[in-house]
Amino acid sequence: MFINYAHRGASEYRPENTMSSFQLGIKMGANGIETDIRRSRDGLLVLFHDDTLKRVTGESGSVSDYTYAELSKFNVYDKSGKYTDKIVLFEDFLKAFSPTKLYFAIELKEKNCEEEVLDLLEKYNMREKCTITSFCFEYIKNIKKLDCRYKTGFLCDAPDEEKISDMKSIACEEVCPKADLINKENVALWHGYGFNVRAWGVADTNLMERIYDLGVDGMTVNFPDRLEEYKKQR
Ligand code: G3P
Ligand code: CA
Repeated sequence: MFINYAHRGASEYRPENTMSSFQLGIKMGANGIETDIRRSRDGLLVLFHDDTLKRVTGESGSVSDYTYAELSKFNVYDKSGKYTDKIVLFEDFLKAFSPTKLYFAIELKEKNCEEEVLDLLEKYNMREKCTITSFCFEYIKNIKKLDCRYKTGFLCDAPDEEKISDMKSIACEEVCPKADLINKENVALWHGYGFNVRAWGVADTNLMERIYDLGVDGMTVNFPDRLEEYKKQR
């Protein structure tokens, strides 16, 4: 099944990685949500993309410098500055969305989150409906060591033979290549290896349409409405 992942929610239109962004993504027809995991100073897992708070909240420092109580006072702004929302706890996200039919891409942004992410995913019966991803191969390797029943995806550019072999060695299920590096030949190659192919870095509608037509199995988009519209035309 093709998955239209609302990337950090419908982040083109709402503050990324917040409830309003996820909810709008669902309303626009996304059948998946992608989000990013970090840890607060008091050890709670929260949804946040950047290394620092500056770009989306205007605050100084990083998520790890603040307790969740402190983080929850900050506003997260959308691109236009028109909408604001709050930083979300991973567990609250799971409470809200695990009962749905959505599929999830959970990206590990920091080390030492693997065990707790798995505990929470188990608690909310998420095993069959998520893929745990990272740009850091070690993190997904650790996931497989802890529980090989969880699907993993490796975020990369376009993997060379060495990376492919690393992925095979841990039975990683999904290659997540950068969208503008995808072509007909490498999609066929990766499918031939048995990987699911899910793109990231879909910067605009033209790229979205091109890789959709190449037969990828899913992509993360900031504008899930445009992808839904295109799917209807094909
Ligand atoms: O689709 C995964 C994508 O989210 C990876 O890039 O920078 O948005 O985490 P980034
Ligand atoms: Ca991400």
